[in-house]
Amino acid sequence: MLVIALCKGRFLEPSLELLARAGIRFSEDVASSRRLIFESVDKKYNVFLVKPVDVPTYVEYGAADIGIAGRDVLLETRADVLQPLDLKFGYCKIAVAGPKGQTPRPSPPTIRIATKYPHITMDYYNARSIPVEIIPLSGSIELAPLIGLADRIVDIVETGRTLKENGLEILEVIAETSARLLINRAGYQTKREEVRDLIQALEKVVA
Ligand code: PRP
Repeated sequence: MLVIALCKGRFLEPSLELLARAGIRFSEDVASSRRLIFESVDKKYNVFLVKPVDVPTYVEYGAADIGIAGRDVLLETRADVLQPLDLKFGYCKIAVAGPKGQTPRPSPPTIRIATKYPHITMDYYNARSIPVEIIPLSGSIELAPLIGLADRIVDIVETGRTLKENGLEILEVIAETSARLLINRAGYQTKREEVRDLIQALEKVVA
């Protein structure tokens, strides 16, 4: 049996749809259930649901053989997992954003940046030798510049609606992200046949 970690939230429906198209189905409605672990109809897979940022950790430590998560959380967690496949959904930008039309201060002190991606943010600014102060938050990041907690944010932008409705705009794009298939390194060897069958089935679906 293979164990698959899926993200709760906006990735869940497209992840389940992808698995269904690869023949992995469940007897109950996973997306609306409060349960956290589900066995597939063919009893070949166990799927469990966790927060997106935790998916790479479950796969790296082998609690899941396989996971589906965004490239953003892979960059942030720096998890040591195999990433054989872009699953072609969940397209977003990881971007620096700030109040619309704001002119930069003449000699700003250290810029304060609110984000749920402290590693990505630090890597980006370190590479440019720009000193920044990072304010780690776990959600509603767009609020930070509006109430004076930070000068800018680093966050994912999908439709751009959240930025727009809060008077913010993209200042720089750091990276593009989409959903990725993650594989535990040891499982790729010890469960070689099952893992490769699943990769092939998913490859056909996303092709
Ligand atoms: C994400 C992200 C932005 C928003 C971007 O938040 O942090 O807030 O989606 O999407 P948009 O460009 O389509 O508006 P999420 O909904 O995951 O909630 P969060 O604020 O709890 O992180």
